[in-house]
Amino acid sequence: MEVITKISEMQTMVFSIKDRKESIGFVPTMGALHEGHVSLMRSARDENDELVVSIYLNPTQFDNKEDFDNYPGQLDKDIEIVERENADVVFAPCTDEMYPEGFCTYVTQDKLTDTMCGRLRPGHFNGVTTIVTKLFNIVKPDKAYFGQKDYQQSVVVEKLVADLNMEIDVKVLPTVRDEDGLALSSRNKRLNPEERRSALCIYSSLLKAKSMFASNVKDAKEIIEEMTSIIKKAKHTRTDYISIVNAHTLEDVSLINEKAVAAVAVWIGNTRLIDNIILE
Ligand code: PAF
Repeated sequence: MEVITKISEMQTMVFSIKDRKESIGFVPTMGALHEGHVSLMRSARDENDELVVSIYLNPTQFDNKEDFDNYPGQLDKDIEIVERENADVVFAPCTDEMYPEGFCTYVTQDKLTDTMCGRLRPGHFNGVTTIVTKLFNIVKPDKAYFGQKDYQQSVVVEKLVADLNMEIDVKVLPTVRDEDGLALSSRNKRLNPEERRSALCIYSSLLKAKSMFASNVKDAKEIIEEMTSIIKKAKHTRTDYISIVNAHTLEDVSLINEKAVAAVAVWIGNTRLIDNIILE
């Protein structure tokens, strides 16, 4: 496995892969890898000739400096994990490489980024769409893999690819959970044991939404009220949003009569976690 830090070297590598007419599966990450990333890598490994994984903690998608500074970093361990998954290349550039002095071009998207996390984290999705566009331009993947946990991100990336005519198949894979249901996230490492227990309210609230919907409750407000009460009862919680949105437009719905997503963003102590469940 090659570890590449320079864009020009990555481009040379991509050129020779394309020359061999091989397909590239790409898993972009910010490091602090866990089983959720591993499941993306395994699918990408199975479905492509070459597997490229990027590890880059992108500063432009953090609206909060403390969140950026406290984001867990473990490059050596991450490289071992990627190697174990039989990847061909790790692309791990530094920030001077990705945003050299004078950098001033950003990719923005409206509508889909006006709701949910986009509304509460100004600039976050501009950072995501910019870095994902740059990574796609450098790695030129045939298929790119994202997790459903970041539901809004996956819809934003699918639209980015469609609107900018990128020939990339975006694959969105199911959220990987701990045995007790907590969605795997690099940020879980920051929870102390009591917060970790409280965080279970997130998945309980989503399961409640799913069971209400399954028993024919279609009124979003009614479902949100139940979800809110579950989250409020747990210790150390502060809610950013609890929403039920159309699965494609991400607009709030009042009556669920099309595929929808129940999505939450909740602070557990000083850690902000997101999760969602599909209602269809
Ligand atoms: O989901 C993430 O880890 C990041 O948002 C991504 C897609 C790697 C862009 O920095």
